Amino acid sequence: MKKIGDSTRSVHVSAEPDKYTGSVQMPIYQTSTYVQEDFAIHKGYEYARTHNPTRALVEAAIAELESPDVPAYGTAFASGMAAITTITQMLESGSHIIAASDLYGGTARLFDQILSKFGIETTYSNLNEGELEKCATEKTKMLWLESPTNPLLEIHDIEKLSNIAHKNGWIVVVDNTFASPILQRPLEHGADIVVHSTTKYIAGHSDLIGGCVITRNREIDEQLKFLQNALGAVPSPMDCFLTLRSIRTLAIRVERHCDNAEKLVKKLSQHPKITRLLYPGLKTHNGHDIAKKQMQRYGGMISIEVIGGEQGARKFASASKLFATAESLGGVESLINHPWSMTHAAIPKKRRESIGITPGLVRLSVGIEDFEDLWDDIVNALECI
Ligand SMILES: Cc1ncc(COP(=O)(O)O)c(C=O)c1O
Repeated sequence: MKKIGDSTRSVHVSAEPDKYTGSVQMPIYQTSTYVQEDFAIHKGYEYARTHNPTRALVEAAIAELESPDVPAYGTAFASGMAAITTITQMLESGSHIIAASDLYGGTARLFDQILSKFGIETTYSNLNEGELEKCATEKTKMLWLESPTNPLLEIHDIEKLSNIAHKNGWIVVVDNTFASPILQRPLEHGADIVVHSTTKYIAGHSDLIGGCVITRNREIDEQLKFLQNALGAVPSPMDCFLTLRSIRTLAIRVERHCDNAEKLVKKLSQHPKITRLLYPGLKTHNGHDIAKKQMQRYGGMISIEVIGGEQGARKFASASKLFATAESLGGVESLINHPWSMTHAAIPKKRRESIGITPGLVRLSVGIEDFEDLWDDIVNALECI
């Protein structure tokens, strides 16, 4: 059968005519429980923490976006962190995780301050050639990475790392939040589990918090479904409905995010107020060749380091009229984040400095506004430093 395009897939995976009324959109099944014909005789729905049809369509839709050619399973959560926490509950006490050193601050906080209390230790690594084995112990069970990373937009070779991990029997988890399934499908490169903060590109309108985990492995899926029900961090039916509505425009939104980011990077590359420009689409980016191999395009996130350190970053952010200063990313509107004091403040200062999260670093989530307006705004904000 002829392969369908990403926009067609996005539109169709997220809608399923309702079997009772023919409603084109999946209804919001706003219920906590379901009537049973007799004790334990029911239509497959007992209690809404365990099953909800609106949620089930979100899970199926994201699974199909991440793995259009091979069956995969999705499990939805109330937040990206709920999804991440639940994955880690697959591990026994005493297990060891190897994680990429450039990681979302909330994930690092979970690993360092919470999992460590339950006997799960994490070693951070730049994941370069030869480094991985140096960190490994006989207790290592999981390799955890993001690509592109948050906030330095580093690229990790998913296929190569998955091969090494599998030789050692480790599960590979890739946080694909920054790329979205439109730009990168880690399961196709060997990852075992993909996780998303659906709060970002998938929901895309900065109006909800959500998460989703996808795997092709039935055993892993069974564990995740058990944990989803046992731990209980499920999303609301309303948020599931909004996520489905957003998925319909995911491909077209991501294209526009990429168009705007690529044009901005081209024009910013020689700007005198910028000391570092990080974008995997740049030929000079050290992960460009790998990004080219495993991504369709390079995304809507750009990180820049401006002159003047934290003060410079503050002047830039306050002078911008279109980029609001806010945590989060991937929404239709442009946002500025200051990782040093905001999203990554939970990472110890020394580690932030050693991996390149500096006080002058600003992360831009480029929205879908008109490019000329974004450009005028950025130039003006840089002038104010
Ligand atoms: C890469 C990445 N993963 C996970 C999360 C956590 O997601 P949530 O905020 O939906 O809990 C974030 C949040 O910013 C993120 O950037």
